Amino acid sequence: MTASDSVIDRDTLRRIYLVGFMGAGKSSVGEFLAEKLGYRLIDLDLEIEKDAGRGIPQIFREEGEPAFRSMESRALRTAGAGHDVVVACGGGIVASAENREFMRENGITVWLDAPLDVMLERCGGSLNRPLLADRPRMEALLAARLPFYRDARIRIDAAGGTPDQLASRIVSLLSNLG
Ligand code: S3P
Repeated sequence: MTASDSVIDRDTLRRIYLVGFMGAGKSSVGEFLAEKLGYRLIDLDLEIEKDAGRGIPQIFREEGEPAFRSMESRALRTAGAGHDVVVACGGGIVASAENREFMRENGITVWLDAPLDVMLERCGGSLNRPLLADRPRMEALLAARLPFYRDARIRIDAAGGTPDQLASRIVSLLSNLG
């Protein structure tokens, strides 16, 4: 576990962005983290589905990935306009430089890092993840995103505990920042 030891603006601590690959546990850790901080959990994938009135696979099928990414960026900006929020982001949020800059400038990014096998196991055969594919393709996608995940202010080992324990660890790392 690492955390930057630079002191940061307290307002920045009012928006926590959970990033990481599919199956890293962002939504489940997010629930515990929001509860512990007294913040609201915003799950971006659910917000996108609510706004679009369709599931993510259907959005990918009917409009393609670029349209989904636009919806995702919009949902991120809406979520980040609030405060006292934990935002569970989709795994691909970091692919956009604008999204990375937005999160860096108005909140704290927390990377849930875990071995690929653990994350794939957690995804199981999820039909709700249109990008889920065979291992070589997942390896390549993760490798392309790793430099961006590594940019997060906080990294935690997401294979090393229950969602409740991981959330407690994040709370303690966040308190070191303030
Ligand atoms: C995606 C991850 C998904 C979802 C969409 C695309 C990705 O979210 O946003 O299927 O590009 O990695 P999870 O990371 O919550 O599975």
